[in-house]
Amino acid sequence: MTVSIEDLRQRAQRRLPRTVFDYIEGFSDDGYTVTANRQSFDRYLFRSRALVDVSAIDHSTTLLGEPLATPIVLAPTGLAGLLAPRGEELAAKAAASRGTVFTLSTMSIGTIEEVAAAASTPLWFQLYIWKDRSVTQSLLDRAKAAGYRALCLTVDVPVMGNREQDRRNGFTVPPRIHFANVLDVLRHLGWVLRMSSSPRATFGNFVGHPALTRTDAVGVARFTNHQFDTSVTWKDVEWLRSHWPGPLVIKGITNPEDARRAVSLGVEALIVSNHGGRQLDFLPAAIDLLPEVVDAVEGRAEVILDGGIRRGSDIAKAIAMGARACMVGRPFLYGLAADGQAGVELALDLLTSELDRTLALLGRPRLSDLDRTALRVDAPASL
Ligand code: FNR
Repeated sequence: MTVSIEDLRQRAQRRLPRTVFDYIEGFSDDGYTVTANRQSFDRYLFRSRALVDVSAIDHSTTLLGEPLATPIVLAPTGLAGLLAPRGEELAAKAAASRGTVFTLSTMSIGTIEEVAAAASTPLWFQLYIWKDRSVTQSLLDRAKAAGYRALCLTVDVPVMGNREQDRRNGFTVPPRIHFANVLDVLRHLGWVLRMSSSPRATFGNFVGHPALTRTDAVGVARFTNHQFDTSVTWKDVEWLRSHWPGPLVIKGITNPEDARRAVSLGVEALIVSNHGGRQLDFLPAAIDLLPEVVDAVEGRAEVILDGGIRRGSDIAKAIAMGARACMVGRPFLYGLAADGQAGVELALDLLTSELDRTLALLGRPRLSDLDRTALRVDAPASL
């Protein structure tokens, strides 16, 4: 029976070859940050109110002026199409059916156009800036033409984090069968069969790019380190601001100074994120970074919390601290691997129903009832 995100995680683990599951779970260096993202939620405790009418729970909100039926947005995740054929399209459909946003990664398997055609939900496009600016420009043009509402610039990958497990596993794109993983792949023939109907197993937006056609098995880190621009600065944010007509979102904000700078450049939303512990290790937990960013922004931009969300109570805590919404990465990927579109819907439903229960038990039936007084100030954390 699947009653929690942890149950979905175990189902995903059973269904995927180890190299693919390890890619989802992956973290950088010693995994301090990925662990902290979870554990820090335990340091914030609730203050509940008794005898409040909680007969009408409302978890709806708005984000960038659009209604959201649930405050949970699907994070950009590269290579989601390795977990299920047309994985990004399935996840976008799941987001649509649950009234929320799907964010397509630059490094997806499904293309910008395929995902836009599959989904009837507000889509965001996540951008990595390439050394070859004509590639960046063409990504922007394609996202614009396909109707993506917002552009989400990820700023925490000047270089790839040190994912040792992927290196040990010899993880490549497309995934390769070699001596060390052949038995494991044979044990997951269901995945092999399912994936045989996938249109491709490489970065869909770059099919035909010379760096991808030169070799068919590109180490992901090697590929991205060659292609991503390490000289990106705030000047590029200004450039994007003037070249992207819709809302601009920055993902990977970890301090108040950067938050203020982004707001001064007209960025509409900030995502407080340490990339799920996959980039700089020993960054603090995302939830611990949130209050100071919220305070610095002073309501001039919306703030989204990303990293470590596995329970509805985590979402309630983030919103009480001032987040407008939360992003989830691995939780929806577990669902996608476990059961395709229905699995992503289940992940969203589990988190939303846990959030509802938390709101009722807290005595704060609407998201707008949540503020820092819903958390205990004597909790062993700086609020
Ligand atoms: C990611 N993440 C990510 N972020 C991004 O901006 N572009 C990307 O291509 C990817 N790719 C990616 C792949 C995989 C497999 C994972 C797990 C994550 C980071 C992602 O957007 C998000 O920040 C984290 O996943 C949030 O942490 P949780 O929810 O996984 O704990």
